[in-house]
Amino acid sequence: MLTRRNTLKLLTGSVALSAATNASWSWAQADSQSGNALKIPELMNGTAEGDSLHFALKMQKGMSSFLPGINTPTLGFNGDYLGPTLHFKRDSNIAVEFLNALGEDTAVHWHGLHIPPSEDGGPHHIFSTGETWNPAFKIMQKAGTFWYHSHMLHKTGKQAYHGLAGLIIIDDQESQALPLPSQYGVDDIPLILQDRSFNADGTFRYMQSYDSTVKGMRGDILLANGTADAYFDASTSKIRFRIVNASNGRLFNIAFSDDRPFQQIASDGGLLEAPLSMNRLIVAPAERVEIVVDVSDSKEITLVSLPVDVNYPVYNGAMSRMVRELNIEHFDILQIRPQASLNDSASIPAQLTQIERLQESDAVLTRRFDLNMGSGPRGGEDLGGGSGMRNGSGGGFGGGAFAINGRTMDMGYNNEKVKLGDTEIWRIQNLTPLNHPFHMHGLQFQILDRNEEAPPANELGLKDTVLVRPGEIVRIIMHFEHFSDTEIPYMYHCHNLEHEDRGMMGQFLVLPA
Ligand code: C2O
Ligand code: CU
Ligand code: CU
Repeated sequence: MLTRRNTLKLLTGSVALSAATNASWSWAQADSQSGNALKIPELMNGTAEGDSLHFALKMQKGMSSFLPGINTPTLGFNGDYLGPTLHFKRDSNIAVEFLNALGEDTAVHWHGLHIPPSEDGGPHHIFSTGETWNPAFKIMQKAGTFWYHSHMLHKTGKQAYHGLAGLIIIDDQESQALPLPSQYGVDDIPLILQDRSFNADGTFRYMQSYDSTVKGMRGDILLANGTADAYFDASTSKIRFRIVNASNGRLFNIAFSDDRPFQQIASDGGLLEAPLSMNRLIVAPAERVEIVVDVSDSKEITLVSLPVDVNYPVYNGAMSRMVRELNIEHFDILQIRPQASLNDSASIPAQLTQIERLQESDAVLTRRFDLNMGSGPRGGEDLGGGSGMRNGSGGGFGGGAFAINGRTMDMGYNNEKVKLGDTEIWRIQNLTPLNHPFHMHGLQFQILDRNEEAPPANELGLKDTVLVRPGEIVRIIMHFEHFSDTEIPYMYHCHNLEHEDRGMMGQFLVLPA
């Protein structure tokens, strides 16, 4: 909630959150008189042209007022901030025209979509101001919540921070046959979550300290669809939230103010096999979760983000302080105010879909990805393209450079070459004291294990981003199908956007079998 405390901090230009701020936070009942109605991005269904659905998106500069009386220069698609929710249906052909009116170069990526590398919108698809980019693809994947965002080389963090992001909803016959809340803006609610920090003149404060380089940009004001201090008037007994963590570097720990349980029904790539009841849910940058909460008791509650427990190893000096201060803030995300009489929602089915687990025995190889920090030179030799084994982990925590297998992102170098039709295991090891949400373009993978243990039940679904905690080894398995290209690679990277922009990214070619 936007308190006077926050406003004062804003005016004095001091935005660092202290531990004391958190201690004073409480489960106090929200004040029903305060707040701003949650903004719901426009739902765009596209216009039929030939056998395609056409979407036109203009990328533009704008001015937004998140805080009373304060104007903030922002970026958006067809508007001042963020973009419309794009509604795609499985098996349909999509044609999009992006017009760049930003006054600077950009690129737009389809996060989580299974489409050819030529349409994927990584840093190989940069287009200048005044130019258009026209990707076209067919939706071949299951229903779920995805997103699109800037992927400008070295500037993804800055452009996304200023508003270049939007949600995608994919529907299919299976999802439409389920009795899930699905009335957009009524009981099916998009929630693009971002933490933001402001300068005294109202501009977004972006990257003004060494800390933000290392930890990823963080802010003390929570925006939900660009709404600070948001509330939502519920008219149904169940509400589905499609949450995307669109922060640059922050983890959210989703809960409700009275600790009531909720059901998680989907992860990054779509529905889970069965709903899972929980009362805490960690969402790392770029991850999506869909949850359903029951408000049939008509009680006013608040969707919050709780501090994430820090039990990381102790490091020396500045790094130790930074690691201790990660994700310790409380945020009120959304006050939910149920109307006096609510429309009854159907109960959530016990089975939602079926997910065929990829088998470890089908993998033709394991590639290693060591996540490192530091600016030291690369210590070892590649042992050949096929094996994927890499030496040399850098090791130091200084420098502010972020690398994978000791290498920083190089547009001219294809780090990995995989073969169409293959199933592979990628073993990701975090050798740093920071969290790294590891993301692959072009497909959905599955998590095999974390530190040799089976992942929790809510990580058994389809994923395109996986949180790799300090010291952790996570193995994921994926099948490369449908799309190959001898020239244009897909990206993999840390989705802490400041880490990505500072080199923690690589590329893989999918070559014809
Ligand atoms: Cu959402 Cu390459 O990123
Ligand atoms: Cu992506
Ligand atoms: Cu990272």
